[in-house]
Amino acid sequence: MANIKRIGVLTSGGDAPGMNNAVRAVTRAALAQGLEVIGINGGYSGLVYDNVRQLTARDVSNVVTHGGTMLYSDRCHEFKTEEGMAKAIATCKKYGIEGIIACGGDGTFRGATDLSNRGIPTIGIPCTIDNDITSTDYAIGYDTAMNTVVEMIDRLRDTCESHARCNVVEVMGNHAGGIAVQTAVACGAVACVIAEEPFDEDAMIEKMIKMKNDGKRGFIVVVSELIPDYADPAFAKRIQEKTGIETKFARLAHVVRGGNPTLRDRVTAAKMGSYAVSELLSGKSNIVVCEQAGEIVSLDINFAQTADRLYKGKAKPEELLKYSEEEQEIIRAAGAKKQQYFKDMLALVEEISG
Ligand code: F6P
Repeated sequence: MANIKRIGVLTSGGDAPGMNNAVRAVTRAALAQGLEVIGINGGYSGLVYDNVRQLTARDVSNVVTHGGTMLYSDRCHEFKTEEGMAKAIATCKKYGIEGIIACGGDGTFRGATDLSNRGIPTIGIPCTIDNDITSTDYAIGYDTAMNTVVEMIDRLRDTCESHARCNVVEVMGNHAGGIAVQTAVACGAVACVIAEEPFDEDAMIEKMIKMKNDGKRGFIVVVSELIPDYADPAFAKRIQEKTGIETKFARLAHVVRGGNPTLRDRVTAAKMGSYAVSELLSGKSNIVVCEQAGEIVSLDINFAQTADRLYKGKAKPEELLKYSEEEQEIIRAAGAKKQQYFKDMLALVEEISG
């Protein structure tokens, strides 16, 4: 059992619905263990610029329904500098912060490693609507974001059907196509464009013309953001010119990131928050809480980051060599599982659209 009396909690990077639930769970679980909790405002910038506040049980009352983050968020560049890091450590010392729970995505976990390496045990909780952290099956915020997209596309479908139109819908996800493929299946899209797999535009056009001739009126095409040539109104224009179906382009953008968290995000946040506190108290540092096959587990952040970099094509081959054969296999399997998942989901879109 680690001798920790006061911990900090922060939210960093793009906000995600469910972050408040994680902050609440961390705070309440820590208070129940007799710890004091310091809320760090604005992610790592709160450490760099000494912007913190003590959290009581009442401070996290009534946040379970709220999207966004009550601690605010930021992508803090100063924190990555030596000077910024020194200020962050000084803030930890000033307030007696002996451990930190950091909620966010991969950038947040890099910051967690920096703090851990400088003697402040830090634990990451995955919170990102992109669900793009290879080591965890699930990141808080993903379910709410997808349900918001479903609601938006359902509305677009209504009007597409009335007017015999197509709507190309661009959804967030950064470079990950999870939100796109899931919502494409859920909303009966005729096609889905993601960065993970090549896209055959001609085949989609041919299919749409056939469907139109068969009497189909409304068409939805889901595109994940940041994909050149497709996450662009020009794609809708091409569809219209080639199929003769009037086509509109809708970019959902940050609409997808707000809103009340769903049950899944609330429950996952509660479980991960409580688990993170117990891991910190048991002396763990530099780990990320993950969901694997429905279980909450923890993994070394460096290991998780290598798995992530390998999957995203950013890892140098020698990076893997520091791990055992068995660990290398786990890392490779995690990436392969994700690749297969995207292939299967696209095949499903194709199979059941008609
Ligand atoms: O990582 C979450 C996310 O919403 C991505 O889906 C998106 O690409 C990015 O953040 C947008 O960032 P910002 O809020 O800085 O515009």
